[in-house]
Amino acid sequence: MRLLVTGGCGFIGSAFVRLALGHGAEVVNLDKLTYAGNPANVADVADDEAYTFVHADIADAAAVAGAIAGCDAVVNFAAESHVDRSILDPADFISTDVVGTAVLLDAARTAGVRRFVQVSTDEVYGSIPTGAFRETDPISPSSPYSASKAGGDLQVLAWHRTFGLDAVITRGSNTFGPRQYPEKLIPLFVTNALDGQQLPVYGDGMQIRDWIYVDDHCSGIWTALEKGEAGEVYNVGGGNEEPNMEITRRVLELTGRDGSLIRHVADRPGHDRRYALDTAKLRGLGWEPAHSFEDALAATVAWYADRRDWWEPIKSGDYRRYYEEQYGGR
Ligand code: NAD
Ligand code: DAU
Repeated sequence: MRLLVTGGCGFIGSAFVRLALGHGAEVVNLDKLTYAGNPANVADVADDEAYTFVHADIADAAAVAGAIAGCDAVVNFAAESHVDRSILDPADFISTDVVGTAVLLDAARTAGVRRFVQVSTDEVYGSIPTGAFRETDPISPSSPYSASKAGGDLQVLAWHRTFGLDAVITRGSNTFGPRQYPEKLIPLFVTNALDGQQLPVYGDGMQIRDWIYVDDHCSGIWTALEKGEAGEVYNVGGGNEEPNMEITRRVLELTGRDGSLIRHVADRPGHDRRYALDTAKLRGLGWEPAHSFEDALAATVAWYADRRDWWEPIKSGDYRRYYEEQYGGR
């Protein structure tokens, strides 16, 4: 099978590229290399003869048409993915997550690919005080990020219904592991704690997220690619619901730091209080997570402790300017 993987130089996409090559697939990785795209994330497979890299934007129809030729399926990871950045400036989110997805869908239809997998997020459902979202629940996104992902999902469903494109959507929960850009909660707090810097907890820190290890998220996407039914949505959740303060406590413990690093800062506008997913539908296809939260978190912290060469260059330059803007406004 020849796959077009978009966003394969990012956090989850790069793990999926490794998984797909491990399953014997040929992979064409199309990535724009935004601030979050890092060739180092796929350096270990760059010389694999089953792997090709194309430096392009998913919204560039000509480039996408070239890359998709001969591919059996598309797995779309490419997105602007950080909620806080979408609050500072939503424009790129609309361009990539909505328009880019539509360009990719059109190319898939024209090329006659057999399957399109849209990698989406539990954030499209919005917040849920109790219970867990099922795939049939209405979407109610809160942030420009989740609204742009919801827009992408709706384009995918429209291409399926209108043009008969064979497409499935996965909605994953909060993912953690090696190679995650250090703007997201876990890698930001781990790298800050390793450097003895403060951990900025938004509001009271009692917002709940359902955490999944990156390889489990990828195996869920692989299951949907192989076994999902066209036109269907599949939730991919780890079932590890934790308030942010508990994540903070564990990070401090695993890095040998104490609570003096915690700094409560102004809450994120429109902050969703709780996410939770019912994953029975994907489990019905034979998928289940293989990693315990405790072990995977410890392994993740150990990776960041060991791989300063990966994150120290990132936490400078534009990264610092982003944080000045982030905290200048609140
Ligand atoms: P990331 O920000 O680490 O990586 C995004 C990748 O997409 C980067 O390599 C970037 O260069 C590339 N990209 C961005 N815009 C592009 C464009 N216009 N054309 C081509 N490439 C482009 O993101 P991630 O955390 O790995 O998330 C990957 C996908 O999974 C996203 O669609 C995201 O919405 C979804 N998701 C993420 C999580 C999570 O917790 N990280 C959970 C559920 C779903
Ligand atoms: O739920 C899936 C989503 O998870 C993905 O679709 C997104 O791409 C991904 O970024 C993530 O979104 P969140 O907003 O949940 O993740 P983030 O790591 O930004 O924040 C997790 C929680 O931690 C959230 O409640 C906000 C809080 N937080 C985050 C940061 C960066 C803090 O308290 N302090 C921080 O500095």
